Amino acid sequence: MILSIESSCDDSSIAITDIQTKELVYHKKISQELQHSVYGGVVPELAARLHVEALPKILQECESYFSQLKAIAVTTAPGLAVTLMEGVIMAKALSVSLNLPLISVNHLKGHIYSLFIEKEQQLPMLVLLVSGGHTQVIQAQSLNSMDIVATTMDDSFGESFDKVAKMLDLGYPGGPIVQEYALKGDENAYDFPVPLSQSPKIAFSYSGLKNAVRMAIEAEKNLSEEIKANICASFQKAAVTHIMQKMKKLFKQHAPKRFAIVGGASANIFLRQAIEKLCKEYKTELFLSELKFCSDNAAMIGRVAVEQYEKQEFTPVHELDIQSRVKTF
Ligand code: KG4
Ligand code: ZN
Repeated sequence: MILSIESSCDDSSIAITDIQTKELVYHKKISQELQHSVYGGVVPELAARLHVEALPKILQECESYFSQLKAIAVTTAPGLAVTLMEGVIMAKALSVSLNLPLISVNHLKGHIYSLFIEKEQQLPMLVLLVSGGHTQVIQAQSLNSMDIVATTMDDSFGESFDKVAKMLDLGYPGGPIVQEYALKGDENAYDFPVPLSQSPKIAFSYSGLKNAVRMAIEAEKNLSEEIKANICASFQKAAVTHIMQKMKKLFKQHAPKRFAIVGGASANIFLRQAIEKLCKEYKTELFLSELKFCSDNAAMIGRVAVEQYEKQEFTPVHELDIQSRVKTF
């Protein structure tokens, strides 16, 4: 079995995965959403301190599996340097004390492999990764061959939801809250611009849309619940229309046989429905992660680690470090 640790942002999570069967034997995650919500976003130093409390608490529950472990896996990039470090310190301590090899896992590969938890991997696949830190389309050929086809020029899809929620004083994380408000609102109440709609470029951008929402909020004298719902609905419509315009362009150029949406923001119902429709139109097989594995978790890190274990991709303890300069793969 492999014990995997995830601490790249505000979720402390540990999983144990059976190497042969790929069964998820143990999985636990402690989220810090409540502690960060008062700040309207993740405060890195607070997140790191909370990992120091949460990770050992979870690890205690795993002690009965220690004798069956063959490797320790940990997320090393991308993520917040101070929080990644907490996972890496724990992984190194376990590696030395239990005499086990270390596996360094890329968080974005983790999101892609969240599709294959307790399953065989099915690659090649075109993948849309939408999270708090990323908005990317990736051509995933195999574990070690992943090419970015399109990416954001500024902010990410998930982060724009977080910012809109913050501007409306709705709490953190913004994605689920804005989606909930949007359900009660009129999506045509505000005419927010769809980013890059006139550009032939296949890329994403959210800074202009965020700014348009900010100006609409400033123009309102009284932010009633109805106005907040209308802003959320109109914003969500523009944000999803933007992704869909670019995805349609990509599909038109070359419709993939297999397509997936992964990452925390792939939980967005509006986006899921639009993607489902597109895939049906092009007879593309659509893959979605289970909702509980969309946001950050150690189960997806463990699933990547199984593949790396089979390739014997280990990192010596003195070489394992956070790779804070790595922004993608
Ligand atoms: O993958 P994830 O857990 O962490 C990162 O690696 O960033 O993604 C978290 C992001 C947050 O920005 C959150 O607001 C967004 O995913 N999110 C959503 C939804 N649920 C979570 N965004 C839009 N709609 C949702 N339903
Ligand atoms: Zn993530």
